[in-house]
Amino acid sequence: MTSNLLISFKLNGNEVQVDSAPDRRVIDLLREDLGLTGTKESCGRGDCGACSILIDGDQRLSCLMLAVQLEGREMITIEGFSLQEDRLSNVQQKFIELGAAQCGFCTPGMVISATALLRVNPEPSRSEVRQAISGNLCRCGAYQKILDAIEAASKEKTKL
Ligand code: FES
Ligand code: FES
Repeated sequence: MTSNLLISFKLNGNEVQVDSAPDRRVIDLLREDLGLTGTKESCGRGDCGACSILIDGDQRLSCLMLAVQLEGREMITIEGFSLQEDRLSNVQQKFIELGAAQCGFCTPGMVISATALLRVNPEPSRSEVRQAISGNLCRCGAYQKILDAIEAASKEKTKL
C-alpha cells in the first residue's frame, strides 16, 4: 500500500494541502475527497474529455492524472469559474443562452476545453474551435450548438 503524502497546490484560487495517496487519481480526489462533483467521469481512460480540468491554464484529463502530479501546480475546475468571479463565465453563459447542453454530462469538460482555447486564442476560427473540443465527446450529439456557443463567447468583449 502507498503511504499518503501531503500535496500542496492551488485549487480554484486557494492554496490547499491534501493528505492523499500519491497515486490517487485526480478525478477521485476531486469528486470523492473534495466534494467537487462538477468534473465528470465517463470513460475513465482518456477517451471522452468529460473529466477535463485546467492545470496551469492548460486542459488536462483528471482521470489520467495522479494526485502527486498536482504538487506546486494551479488547478481550476468548473466550480472555479463562478467561485472566482462570482458570475458565470462567458462560455457558460453562452451555453445557457444558446441551449448548448442536452443531458449536460459533457458540458463541464466542453466549457473547460473552450476556456483553455479562448485564453490563448481569443478569436478562434470555427475549425480551431472544432479542433479544441475534438477530445470531448457529446453522446447527445449537441455539437452544433456547442460550437455556436463557444463562437458566441469568443465575440464577447470580456472573453472569460
Ligand atoms: S473520464 Fe477522463 S477522458 Fe473520459
Ligand atoms: S449534452 Fe449530453 S453528452 Fe453532451
